[in-house]
Order: sequence, then C-alpha cells, then structure tokens
Amino acid sequence: KMIVFHHQNDLKDHLLSYRSSNKSIGFVPTMGALHKGHLSLMKKALQENDILVVSIFVNPTQFNNVDDLEKYPRDLDSDRNTIASLQGEIVVYAPAPEDVYEDKVISEVFSFDGLENQMEGRFRPGHFDGVGTIVKKLLQIVSPNKAYFGEKDYQQLLIVKKMVAIEQLPVVIVGCPILREENGLAMSSRNERLSLKVRQKSGFIYKTLLDVQACFTSKSFKEISTYVEKMFEQQEDFKLEYFSITDADTLEAVESAEDNKKYRAFIAVYADGDVRLIDNIALN
Ligand code: PAJ
Repeated sequence: KMIVFHHQNDLKDHLLSYRSSNKSIGFVPTMGALHKGHLSLMKKALQENDILVVSIFVNPTQFNNVDDLEKYPRDLDSDRNTIASLQGEIVVYAPAPEDVYEDKVISEVFSFDGLENQMEGRFRPGHFDGVGTIVKKLLQIVSPNKAYFGEKDYQQLLIVKKMVAIEQLPVVIVGCPILREENGLAMSSRNERLSLKVRQKSGFIYKTLLDVQACFTSKSFKEISTYVEKMFEQQEDFKLEYFSITDADTLEAVESAEDNKKYRAFIAVYADGDVRLIDNIALN
C-alpha cells in the first residue's frame, strides 16, 4: 500500500493516526531517481518499522554546481513504480521547494566538529550546510523513530549523526552498506549519465579501493596514495579529484595507522567529463 503527499500538512495529518496507535515510523530521505541502493535502505526500514516514509526531493541548497542541479534526473512516476515493488505500508512525501522551505530556499550554517571541512566539504563548498538543513527539516516534518542513510555517502552519514546529536533530535540514525553494480561500481543516480563504455569501465574505481584495502597493512599510506594516483593517470575517462585515507570517525586524513583505530579510504572522481562519482571502503 502506497500513498503520495506533496504537502507537509497533509503528510503530518496522515502520520498522526499511526503515531496515536504507537506504530513505528522508518524514514528514508532521497532525491529520487531511485535504484537498488535506495531500495535496500527502504527494505531495511520496512523490516525494522511498521511504516516506511520515503521523501523524494532534489534539494537545491546542497548543490554547489548549478549544472549538476539542472542535470539531476527527475521522474516521479518511475520512482512511484519502483517503490510500489516493495511490500508494506509506504508513505511518500514529494514536495515542491516552497513546501519544505516555506519562505526562503536557503541553508542554515552548521558546524559539525570539523567533519564538514574534509573531502566533500572541501570540494563542494556549502554542500553539507544544505544537507544538514534539509535533513533537519525533513526529520522535523516526519518525526520518524529511525532514519536510514547509506555508507555510499559516508561523510554525509557521519554529519547527519552529528547534526542529530547537536540538535538533540529524537531519532536513531541507521547506516546501511553500499550496494554495487555487477562490476563493482557503487550504485548512484548519476551513473545514468555515463556512456555505456565508461559505465562498464567504472568498476575500476572499486577495484582500486579493493587494492588499497589489500595492501593497507603492508604499504605506507604515501605509497598507497601514489599507487592510486598512478592508476587513475592511466585511465583517460577518469579524472581523480581526491583520494584520502582517513580516521573513520573524524574523517581527518592520516599518514599512518595506530592500533585500535578504524580507517577508511575515499575516492572522488570525474568520469566521462563531468559526472562526479564517489566511493569508499573500510580498511580494517
Ligand atoms: P540520494 O543521493 O538520493 O541518496 C539517498 C540515500 O540513499 C542516501 O542515504 C545515500 O547514501 C543512499 N544511497 C545512495 N546510493 C547508495 C548505494 N549504492 N548503496 C547504499 N546506499 C545508497 O543522499 C541524498 O540523496 C541526499 O543528500 C539526502 C540525504 C536525501 C538529502 O537531500
């Protein structure tokens, strides 16, 4: 069973009946162009809750690049069909910008203990203020028990957890594993913009991360970085934006490993010219 709302007031009215009967609400925020990665979050939310709320909203304030915002795929009918393949009680919230942002489509400015200064925060100025702003608004509108985020956007996951702690929002944030295409390419709405040839070649990104994971204990981080940069220089359809090995909690780049700490490797790359892809992997 699926029902779609475009206005937050109608959505809130509808959710009230669930809340009064103590049903738990799981929430999956998305920007649409839904794929199996999104579906895996929704399935998990349906397993763990009585009701699933999915939001579909291409949030303008988190795009630092106008072209990227304009080219972002939008197809609500196809998204409805994708969601309809799931079993369960599902509520979709697909607002226009005015409905979520009310008077002004602008970001609140956050500080996330420095998480916002690393990687995506550095290369996409304002991006995480936009993410923090929209996720906070959506959590306030939906008031879910749990909200689900993919490790595909690992930095976003940590930032959302931090935001929820700072704002003391009564919700549990659940991280979910990365779903991949057969060749290893992390599923993403942006993959649709790749030519078939480059999409096939893009499995190379994950293969490189697996190489990094394999030599994590035997090579220095500097040697590993040099290796990754070399690998990408040899690929004409890919332009590496950054490669970073970080502390998995602070996301600060590190030069070497210490005991009892978790590390992760991150890649951002332009494929096929202007399609920006990101991926990451746990190293220990
Ligand atoms: P979007 O890119 O649509 O992703 C929605 C959610 O799906 C995010 O939590 C993302 O990490 C997760 N996801 C995407 N691809 C995935 C994959 N291959 N495997 C597992 N999870 C995946 O992320 C956003 O939207 C926005 O920033 C949003 C949080 C909705 C705020 O606007």
